[in-house]
Amino acid sequence: MTHYDVAYVRSQFPALKRTIDGRPAAYLDGPGGTQTPRRVLDAVREYLADHNANLGGRFATSEETDATIAEAHSAGADLLGCEPAEVSFGANMTTLTYFLAEALGRRLKPGDEVVITALDHEANRSPWLRLAERGVVVREVPVDLATCTLDWTAFDTLVQPGHTKVVAVGYASNAVGTVNDVARAAALARAAGAWSVVDAVHYALHGPIDVRALGCDFLLCSAYKFFGPHVGLMYARREATAQVEPLRLATQTAEPPYIWETGTLNFEGMAGTTAAIDFIADLGDRNVALVEDRLPAGLKGRRRAVVAGMLAGEVYEQPLATWLREQLAGIPGVKIYGPPEGSPRTSTVSFTLEGFLAGEAARALGDRGLFVWDGDFYAASLVRLLGLAERGGLIRVGLAPYTTQGELERLVTAVGDLSRSAR
Ligand SMILES: Cc1ncc(COP(=O)(O)O)c(C=O)c1O
Repeated sequence: MTHYDVAYVRSQFPALKRTIDGRPAAYLDGPGGTQTPRRVLDAVREYLADHNANLGGRFATSEETDATIAEAHSAGADLLGCEPAEVSFGANMTTLTYFLAEALGRRLKPGDEVVITALDHEANRSPWLRLAERGVVVREVPVDLATCTLDWTAFDTLVQPGHTKVVAVGYASNAVGTVNDVARAAALARAAGAWSVVDAVHYALHGPIDVRALGCDFLLCSAYKFFGPHVGLMYARREATAQVEPLRLATQTAEPPYIWETGTLNFEGMAGTTAAIDFIADLGDRNVALVEDRLPAGLKGRRRAVVAGMLAGEVYEQPLATWLREQLAGIPGVKIYGPPEGSPRTSTVSFTLEGFLAGEAARALGDRGLFVWDGDFYAASLVRLLGLAERGGLIRVGLAPYTTQGELERLVTAVGDLSRSAR
């Protein structure tokens, strides 16, 4: 296929049939959670209907559950570019990060340092800030507020060999879409002898992830941001896992990936996660001609298809996002936040509208079937530093592989109407 067939993509999502007062619902809330394709719904249903059991039993449904769980670890490995034993599942990214901070924190002593950033979602800040209770010093990389990008000069000086033990950084900002050079952050951490932890929750549907190329020790994401159910995934480099002792029951295996997986997991969610990754791979297979020139050499099977699927989404969404920013920028009273044009950014577009609190604008748009988010999206530190807390934060439009130009035209018209009504 030489063009991206958005009609096919949309046909896979039952939710997209919904209307609000006669208008089709436009799901522009992807950064808060994407919609779910039919094959994911089917996988969750089928697991619970036909295979539901606990692990390790000597009967059919338990053996099928063992296979389902093994397949979820393999699918996670194809998503992230690692071995199945390096992907663990948990409730969500936040819970996994607290768990990880506990495991790494046990290895730290008072005076050791952790570096976080002012750009990050609170889920990659609070768990590390809490280590201050143990005497750990938490240092924060500032943000250049004009461009919503990290201050790399400060980053370079804050990471210090002998002092820094953990560097926690986001792959992409869920508030304004900035994509960070996490390979550079991981290299800084490595040179200092520190562990690197990457929050890839927002990035995960906006580009392929290759943990080996990034050189990070840990990377976390959430399946509900890439068409899956509400479960979290964590890549833990095998050698990094060997250095720590995560909380675990005496009866629990110490082998990765299970060492990180406490209690009975969300098996139906894991079955759904495999289906979500297969769905992305299917998009890759259908659109390989569109992205052939960007596909790294040497990839095979589902991994190659997943990388192609992630690239295809971006090839489709980025021009739409550029168009949207241009249109919004022309509306009186609109101010767009994010990195300069041409800088790495996801297809998430955030703005304010003079005369409206962000929540008021989002309500008015929601009433027209345009589902956008408002507030700080838990990137509270950035929104506070931008001085937007009192204005209700930002209005956030998230593009997804099922978003259409027509939906964005409706949004631009609606924002234009709001702008006029305030003048
Ligand atoms: C960038 C980012 N990090 C972390 C999280 C938290 O993820 P979870 O809901 O899986 O805990 C989110 C959720 O919105 C996010 O966007």
